[in-house]
Amino acid sequence: MPSRTIALGVLASGRGSNLQALLDAIAEGRLAAKVAIVISDRSDAQAPERARAAGIPAVTLSPRAFPTREEYDAQVVKLLGDVGVEVVVLAGYLRIVTTVLLRAFPDRVINIHPSLLPAFRGLHAQRQALEYGVKITGCTVHFVSEEVDSGAIILQAAVPILGDDTEATLSERILEEEHRLLPQALQLYAEGRLTIQGRRVVITPNAHALH
Ligand code: GAR
Repeated sequence: MPSRTIALGVLASGRGSNLQALLDAIAEGRLAAKVAIVISDRSDAQAPERARAAGIPAVTLSPRAFPTREEYDAQVVKLLGDVGVEVVVLAGYLRIVTTVLLRAFPDRVINIHPSLLPAFRGLHAQRQALEYGVKITGCTVHFVSEEVDSGAIILQAAVPILGDDTEATLSERILEEEHRLLPQALQLYAEGRLTIQGRRVVITPNAHALH
């Protein structure tokens, strides 16, 4: 199915390995997108460095410079709009986004979360899974809604929990799946194959796969 090149705005708070997975997928022709800007809320994040290394503008916005979350997000929306972003990707973004961002990009904010939602929402999802004692966890790519980690699910991947797993080893194995899943979900978006119906995302089959 033909795909357009979508302009992504990536918000990231940390090491940015999911951002890197997107950049690699774009470079390898697996994702019809360009990253137009990377915005981080933390000065110690590695994501902006990765962006600059790839020639992509990167901005660090300190939350302390804004009296409210809404004013922070209004500035984020302005930066995204200035470079023509179509889809906002939360790639390890640890701030809760407000309706200011969600209403500026309706059904166009996508998050990756390190659990099989609706289990283990919020921070430290891998630790929550270990502490709960589940035998399988994983990751979820979903549209972002106003309730945290609750929007319509696009793709999920399962990861078994091994007897000797620590939070670090489990997080690494989940990340491998995240790096596969996030570009795949965005490529489905670029191909126009995602439709939100109520709380479900319906994925149109690939026309080539039917023949
Ligand atoms: C990833 O595991 C991502 O799923 C998680 O933060 C990590 C960021 O890694 N996100 C959340 O927990 C959001 N609630 P990265 O900076 O290397 O992409």
